[in-house]
Amino acid sequence: MEIPWLESGQEIIEELITLRRQLHQHPELGYEENRTAETIAKILRDLGLEVQTGVAKTGVVALLKGKEPGKTIALRGDMDALPLQEISDKPYRSKTSGKMHACGHDAHMTYVIGAAMLLKKYQSRLKGNVKFIFQPAEETTGGAKPMIEEGVLENPRVDAVLGGHVWPDTPTGSIEVLKGPVMASTGQLYLEIYGKGGHAARPHENIDPILIGQEILQRLQSLSSRMIDPLENSVISICSFQAGETYNVMPEKAVLMGTIRTLNNELRLEIPGKIEKIVENVTSYYGATYSLNITHLYPATINDENFTTFASASAKKLLGKEQVIQGNKPSMAGEDFAFYLEKVPGTFLRIGNYNQDKGLVYNLHNPHFDIDEAQLGKISALYAKIAMDFLTE
Ligand code: NI
Repeated sequence: MEIPWLESGQEIIEELITLRRQLHQHPELGYEENRTAETIAKILRDLGLEVQTGVAKTGVVALLKGKEPGKTIALRGDMDALPLQEISDKPYRSKTSGKMHACGHDAHMTYVIGAAMLLKKYQSRLKGNVKFIFQPAEETTGGAKPMIEEGVLENPRVDAVLGGHVWPDTPTGSIEVLKGPVMASTGQLYLEIYGKGGHAARPHENIDPILIGQEILQRLQSLSSRMIDPLENSVISICSFQAGETYNVMPEKAVLMGTIRTLNNELRLEIPGKIEKIVENVTSYYGATYSLNITHLYPATINDENFTTFASASAKKLLGKEQVIQGNKPSMAGEDFAFYLEKVPGTFLRIGNYNQDKGLVYNLHNPHFDIDEAQLGKISALYAKIAMDFLTE
């Protein structure tokens, strides 16, 4: 007999809405998700799952074992909120001033909990294991990497991983799947240019760090447009340029800060060298010196072709063909789900969250952002079905 996933998801919708509101009212920032972790861990323990807390500080991992041995799939939810004041008159708005679940991570956790409830219900049909990963600090330094380092993908070894993000461009009730790159890599650039200060009327006796900085800035733009294959995607944005104090004193130093993003993890490793070459050339021409610091944050999130095809087919059976949109436009925002995908095949779904009638028109990180609670049961069912299908496949 086919498992009635959608009906089962709908049976627990009230519970899921209550949980989501509870999480929404008590947002916690990266690595401070103590109350969140406690709430999650209690539900998972009450379900009778093996639960591990304190993974990468505040992370929670639970394991559901099937009746028979088999493969293992992991479902991932991120836990952290943002330092943002919510603007809402809804009764479940944030109770913590200056903090808000404005990126839908409250929904992401609820999907994974919902899936745990449903898979527990059908545990007798389960072959293999499902691991439920609740991960801290997606918005800051990234909890995925330390969780992997603490062994979250081992014991039992995870064969595939599924995650998702509420998506403001996709209509509610639908999901969007992308093969290959779905989110960009992120990196930071910090550059100090040391010139020689002096009277603005005697520039030839000085070394002007502002002129040098602007020349570097322009060449960084030509790097994207002339030194990198136009069919690859990259963004280098200088977002801060600081130098000087007044009208007639040429400063000693300029400081530039910016972000570097690509959809290609090999290119990501090549860009810092190309940037350094520009900085080296321009500064040495003018006789200046520099200090350049490029930090890699998250890799590009690359969905596995095979697993995505499989998950998409599974989703179509549950939601109907029209509700599963084949996406082709990756986002240049970053996501630390990328670290799991570097280790195991999997996919990162976009969960439709645009609905004009419900007032769901706001972008992620907006103080008016909200999610469609009516989808909580359905998306939980989707996660559960993909997991079950993968294990029985
Ligand atoms: Ni997010």
